[in-house]
Amino acid sequence: MATFHQRVFSGMQPTATLHLGNYLGALTNWVAMQKTHECIYCVVDMHAITQSLDVWGGPAELTRATREVTAAYVAAGVDPKTSIIFNQSQVPGHAELAWVFNTVARLGWLNRMTQFKEKAGKDKEAASVGLYDYPVLMAADILLYKATHVPVGEDQTQHLELTRDIAQKFNNDFSESIASKNLGTGDLGFFPLPEAMTQGPAPRVMSLRDGTKKMSKSDASDNSRINLTDDAETIAQKIRKAKTDPDALPSEEKGLEGRPEAENLVGIYAGLSGMAKTDVLVQFGGGQFSGFKTALVDLAVAKLAPIAGEMRRLLAEPDHIDAILGEGAQRAAAIAAPIMAEVKDIVGFVSRR
Ligand code: TYM
Repeated sequence: MATFHQRVFSGMQPTATLHLGNYLGALTNWVAMQKTHECIYCVVDMHAITQSLDVWGGPAELTRATREVTAAYVAAGVDPKTSIIFNQSQVPGHAELAWVFNTVARLGWLNRMTQFKEKAGKDKEAASVGLYDYPVLMAADILLYKATHVPVGEDQTQHLELTRDIAQKFNNDFSESIASKNLGTGDLGFFPLPEAMTQGPAPRVMSLRDGTKKMSKSDASDNSRINLTDDAETIAQKIRKAKTDPDALPSEEKGLEGRPEAENLVGIYAGLSGMAKTDVLVQFGGGQFSGFKTALVDLAVAKLAPIAGEMRRLLAEPDHIDAILGEGAQRAAAIAAPIMAEVKDIVGFVSRR
């Protein structure tokens, strides 16, 4: 039976600093997948500029954040020798394929995207066309490499469904062309239908100030999140200040129901330690939050402080980071170019051979 070559693709936006949600929701899974898959990890600088300029911070901030996110990938354990690390804007195929997909995706599909609604807020008329089109560019990122697996946090599952819809419609719309040019993988069509891998240790990390809100770069309160660049003292303070409820920790997972802050902190402990939530509760159930928080501070500092240290070391040599991105971009482009050439051929664009 025909199957697609298994390939992993994922990305993060260089806006502000990465936080514990990015780390536990995606990055730790990225590191793990390197053992079993060919992996491509992108710094999505073209996505970063879709919000208004004061949100992404302007050119100098974009450059800084692109290097910082790259340093975070490497410091967390992504190996640039085996995996490909690059920034999106260095490979022209992302924009080219996004254009083709703009003609495949339907307005009705994009109108359903909840992330656009959240990010655009009340004044949708003032949002950029790029913000609206964000999920189409994301589909192009993934399918430009015919990636089959996409490790992301839970908030990205809707975008992955859209990616599959776009892949499927392209395969259907152009099925005759794909078959006549013999460019399909058996009867599966040209593009694979990529799967979201949300089985990271904590696919949805919540705010430390409000257990019903996602931990996010855009939250006005820095105390709501642990940044990957925070030092030990800051991490300790944020965890000590984290919202809790007055009850003791339960001994079983069922007891976390209706207690979002408790559930979040237990999830974070589980994610950082690699333990199951049930086992965390066996260890800490019945005790007060103060004792649990002390253990969580020790664990978080032990896990995250070395990453922050390594990031600082890497960021002291921006040329080295730029070299990693440049080399990664060359390797990424070498995979993308033949796929993009086939897309053009399938669509019927004339090009010099
Ligand atoms: P970004 O930069 O917003 O998020 C990067 C990754 O972090 C995950 N994440 C979380 N996971 C758990 N809990 C949280 N609180 C939390 N906050 C963020 C996100 O799910 C994501 O995996 N649209 C993508 C960027 C992108 C992309 C792609 C991803 C562009 N093209 C192609 C995969 C494939 C995003 O959300 O970036």
